[in-house]
Amino acid sequence: MATIRIHGGKPLQGDIPISGSKNASLPLLAAALMVPGTSIIENVPRIDDIHAMIEMLRALGVRCEFIEPSTLSINAEHITSHSAPYDLVRKMRGSFYVAGALLGRFGEAEVPLPGGCVIGSRPVDFHIDGFKRLGALVQERHGIMRATAQKLTGSHIIMDSRYRSVGATVNIMLASALAEGVTIIENASREPEVVCCQRFLEAAGADIRGIGTDIVVITGVRELHDVQFRSIPDRMEAGTYLIACSAARGDITLHDAEPRHMSLVLDKLRGVGVRVETGHDWVRVRTDRRPLAFEVTTAPYPGFPTDLQPNAAVLGALAVGTSVVEETIFDARFNYADELNRMGADITLRDSVAIIRGVPRLYGAPVVATDIRAGSALVVAGLCADGYTEISGVEFLYRGYENLEEKLLGVGAAIHRADDEPHDGAHDAQSR
Ligand code: EPU
Repeated sequence: MATIRIHGGKPLQGDIPISGSKNASLPLLAAALMVPGTSIIENVPRIDDIHAMIEMLRALGVRCEFIEPSTLSINAEHITSHSAPYDLVRKMRGSFYVAGALLGRFGEAEVPLPGGCVIGSRPVDFHIDGFKRLGALVQERHGIMRATAQKLTGSHIIMDSRYRSVGATVNIMLASALAEGVTIIENASREPEVVCCQRFLEAAGADIRGIGTDIVVITGVRELHDVQFRSIPDRMEAGTYLIACSAARGDITLHDAEPRHMSLVLDKLRGVGVRVETGHDWVRVRTDRRPLAFEVTTAPYPGFPTDLQPNAAVLGALAVGTSVVEETIFDARFNYADELNRMGADITLRDSVAIIRGVPRLYGAPVVATDIRAGSALVVAGLCADGYTEISGVEFLYRGYENLEEKLLGVGAAIHRADDEPHDGAHDAQSR
């Protein structure tokens, strides 16, 4: 089994290029399935979740290849199947997006239900309710969702305002882009990744109003057309490196980033005493001292992202004072806390709240990553800790972080993968 070894305690100095966003690119790949021609998508990260999505598209008959290091060409002219293989949905939950795309274009989709998840219960009931509201007949049998419709018709869909589901917003947009009439989605997600998908659909000929707001109005069109489109930078990758530098100390500049998508995260870093400067597509953070304690509650965008909550906890673990981190999106997203405590952190969990008493230093230890973001928190902790940290479960990290070791080596971290197997994107981490 591969592991990542980190010799921590060194400040980070230098530049890091930010890759294209995982959670924006996955919906774009699914949306490309709706284009009866060619989509060229730029700024796609070469990570395992994207490889899994490419495999999924190919299984449906789509021609899909990288024509440049981060540019994908997707030709969905000839689809041979409307049925998604279980193995791929199991591997990568985001592949459930093909449900909306297949249903929207062909009036038929057969997709296994994604099942349980280590970060909490993740049902797809909002997606399915949305498909039904558009007139689809949806059956769930033997773990497979089968949605069919002679004709999809626009509808007024009010989603749960507490969650503003990212995935359901995308799936309903895909299913309604070619439907007859007008679909209104209320309480839609406003995450930049959803906006990216809206812009892609618009560039491919869809009629979408209210882009970036929580009321999205989609007027069905007859067909989408060829499109060339650039995916957005990965704000979770960027946030991970910003928090890493804020916790381990140093001076790093991120390039090809989108500071406007990270306003609240940058404000939080300023609040804990980190110097933050931003430009059009770069962010610089500097600090030479322990962070101050803080309070943070995760929330849908523009709130604090749940995907950076585990990283924020590492910052709290090293802060002067007691920090409070509340998770409101997923009910089991503190799996990393025991691992951090084994490294010397002082984290107490009370339901959805972590009380974190800051300590002056963490100590390296063998630890296990249980999902992508728990894994990245352990990397950040390892960068700060005295001595060696050995992280197993690293297949999760390769699902979400492009060139992780190379990027951290470039800013002076002592990090390496502890086996020499070439990494070919063939890992089998459970979906999340
Ligand atoms: N929910 C339901 N029913 C549904 C859909 C969602 O109850 O039908 C609930 C979920 O259980 C959760 C909340 O609504 O409690 C929000 O879930 P959402 O649908 O917004 O999340 P998602 O689409 O499944 C995406 C990202 C996650 C990210 C969340 C929240 C992708 C592929 N995944 O998941 O990213 O944490 O939005 O921002 O885009 C990650 O990258 O590590 C990751 C987990």
